[in-house]
Amino acid sequence: MSAPPRSEAPIQWSLLPESATIAKSGHLVVGGVDLVDLAGEVGTPFFAYDEEHLRARCREADRAWGGLDGHPGAAYAAKAFWCTAMARIVAQEGLGADVATGGEMAVALAGGIAPQHITFHGNNKSELELMAALSAGVGRIVVDSFDEISRLEHLLRYGVASGQRQKVLVRVTPGVEAHTHEFVQTGREDSKFGFSLASGAAAQAVDSLKALPGVELAGVHMHIGSQIFLLDAYSKAISAMAAMVGQLSPTELCIGGGLGVAYVNGESAPSITEWAQSVRDACMSSGIGDGVFLSAEPGRAIVATAGITCYTVGTVKDLPGIRTYVAVDGGMSDNPRPVLYGSGYEAFLPREVSASRPCAVRVVGKHCESGDIVVSAAQVPDDIVVGDVIATPVTGAYGYSMASNYNKVPRPPVVFCRAGEAKVVVRRETEEDLLRLDQG
Ligand code: LLP
Repeated sequence: MSAPPRSEAPIQWSLLPESATIAKSGHLVVGGVDLVDLAGEVGTPFFAYDEEHLRARCREADRAWGGLDGHPGAAYAAKAFWCTAMARIVAQEGLGADVATGGEMAVALAGGIAPQHITFHGNNKSELELMAALSAGVGRIVVDSFDEISRLEHLLRYGVASGQRQKVLVRVTPGVEAHTHEFVQTGREDSKFGFSLASGAAAQAVDSLKALPGVELAGVHMHIGSQIFLLDAYSKAISAMAAMVGQLSPTELCIGGGLGVAYVNGESAPSITEWAQSVRDACMSSGIGDGVFLSAEPGRAIVATAGITCYTVGTVKDLPGIRTYVAVDGGMSDNPRPVLYGSGYEAFLPREVSASRPCAVRVVGKHCESGDIVVSAAQVPDDIVVGDVIATPVTGAYGYSMASNYNKVPRPPVVFCRAGEAKVVVRRETEEDLLRLDQG
């Protein structure tokens, strides 16, 4: 989301998955797998994930946020990257899952997440989704609107769940601006999410939920935005929420997700451990004591740096005096973030990871749009040629999960790399897949 500082330097090591090494050949190796070889085996584009990195971040989140009576303090935010292989890792490493739709819940259950460790979100949950959540027995439903309260009341009184007692959190917008892109700010007063604290809507929602038979109001939830580097935004939001949390005690305060990650050379972000500590300190200073169960929903911070996308260069078009366009075999269909948010990325050649990158180019995709940009201001080695495998690191979050079939481009596969083995956990889409729903 910030303009990348340009330099000839090779890719910054901390932007690569944790297990990354360089083979004697100069190639990038992730999880013991040579990514140039992998490109030869599975074709491009593909998303490669370092499985140990994913597990390490889950474990860090588990340690940092703890738990209460067997309920995990950290729920991984499925929207960042979701498939059953990821859900299995999340379950094995002891985290819960935050799901925002019935679809994400279905994947969570298929991947073995215990229903009681699922938190069900959404600003417009359908009756069907609520029914599915109640019948699955999810741990928490995060209530987002008065209409949803009416729907819940109906279902709990007369529907699938009559007689059931469902834990809910009430989603509150604390009225705090996080320093991030407008489209991923969610805690402001002017927001489609949650109940406003300042207007009294949050207090009214609490009263309605307390009066609802079948509902156990387990606490409050806030989520102030995503890709946040400055932790003081959490402190401000926590201090705004303190009075309400105090009134509900004993209770749970879920502070949502949002921790930022470094995308380009020169950037750095707080760790999950630092984030949790800073939130705990902010709670203490706001008078929110140990009696309150603190929980969180990290997404990006768990998966972003574990993932890397590899493409093949198809054309190199030099426009003298203007710029050089390097076109790859993917684009806005596998990574819409540059188009949506102007996000910056790095590019490098996995065949020579430590090469300097003197050439300024624009890496673009294969879609029929001028805005189809993968890396707006990339630096690449000067020997880049058609046929090279080119990689963009830190694409593990909101890449595959936001991928589309625009221009009927099949979605790339997802490959988990670990201990020298490459496992395709989601296969590449085929043209047959693209026609599967077509009724002619
Ligand atoms: N909890 C809630 C309620 C959320 O809405 C989100 C993200 C998260 C947790 C996880 O946030 P994270 O830790 O990943 O920042 N597509 C955008 C990001 C949208 C985030 C939406 N909500 C992007 O590519 O930057």
